[in-house]
Amino acid sequence: MTVMFHIDGRILPEEEARVPAMDRGFLFGDGVYEVLRTRKGRLFRPDLHLARLRKSASRIRIPMPWPDEELLARVRETIEAAGNEESYVRVILTRGTGRLPNIDPVHAAPDPNLVILVRPLELPTPEEYARGASAWVVETLRNDRRAMDPAIKSGNYLNNILGLMEARDHGAEVALFLNAEGCLTEAPTSNVWIVRGGEILTPPPEAGILLGITRGLLLEMGRKQGLPVAERRIDRTQLFGADEIFLTSTLKDILPVTILNGRPVGEGSPGPLTRDLASRFALFADSLL
Ligand code: PDD
Repeated sequence: MTVMFHIDGRILPEEEARVPAMDRGFLFGDGVYEVLRTRKGRLFRPDLHLARLRKSASRIRIPMPWPDEELLARVRETIEAAGNEESYVRVILTRGTGRLPNIDPVHAAPDPNLVILVRPLELPTPEEYARGASAWVVETLRNDRRAMDPAIKSGNYLNNILGLMEARDHGAEVALFLNAEGCLTEAPTSNVWIVRGGEILTPPPEAGILLGITRGLLLEMGRKQGLPVAERRIDRTQLFGADEIFLTSTLKDILPVTILNGRPVGEGSPGPLTRDLASRFALFADSLL
């Protein structure tokens, strides 16, 4: 079980992995990142993750000089060096090392900095899936997409951290964020879904969310299998009246939420549709390897 980094073309153990103190990701959160994972020892849909990384980078105008094949080769080399059974992979790209600690990008070096981090994959335990998570609808709003679009997977997660701390203050494990219109957006590192009147609903891109890879694949699977999945605006009342709630992310797949603001969701245990979707998704994900 080891952690390995790929920095400046070198594979390094954690003790030797360093980024310059003038790195703009460190100084300003001026960077983007992706989290990928392996399934059965193989990288899961790196094409989708690298496409999102490129999109995030281009939205904040960071150049991406490396082709996908080069990035993937570096990722695979790092996975191999770490030698874990299943891997968590984080690819971090910053606007590079600045000449001055000044926000103006003219002071950035011409080349971005790229760091790849590989560690053992840690998923929720079977007990955690069986119990489900507790969530709290926080007062902190999700970043407005007109200000700092959550569709950009930037390295600045302060909004998410503030929401998470607020949820923790209420004894909950996960924060659920509303937007300025009072509609549901997402959780700090997951997308969110509700089941209501037999429909399986998740907020639309306009709500201000990261377009999660897992979310996209679950929508695709649902449509292919004729399930009643849809992107829909979800207000506070609809959220609190949900029969079931669950989260999706690369590091969770489908995780039930069984407590909302201290009260049970439905029966207070993972709901039947959530459980059905989770088993369908496991098969679907394997079919995509
Ligand atoms: N987080 N929303 C946010 C804000 C996220 O950070 C993530 C992913 C998701 C789910 O996206 P995906 O299905 O592509 O993982 C939604 C990763 C796992 C992380 O930052 O650790």
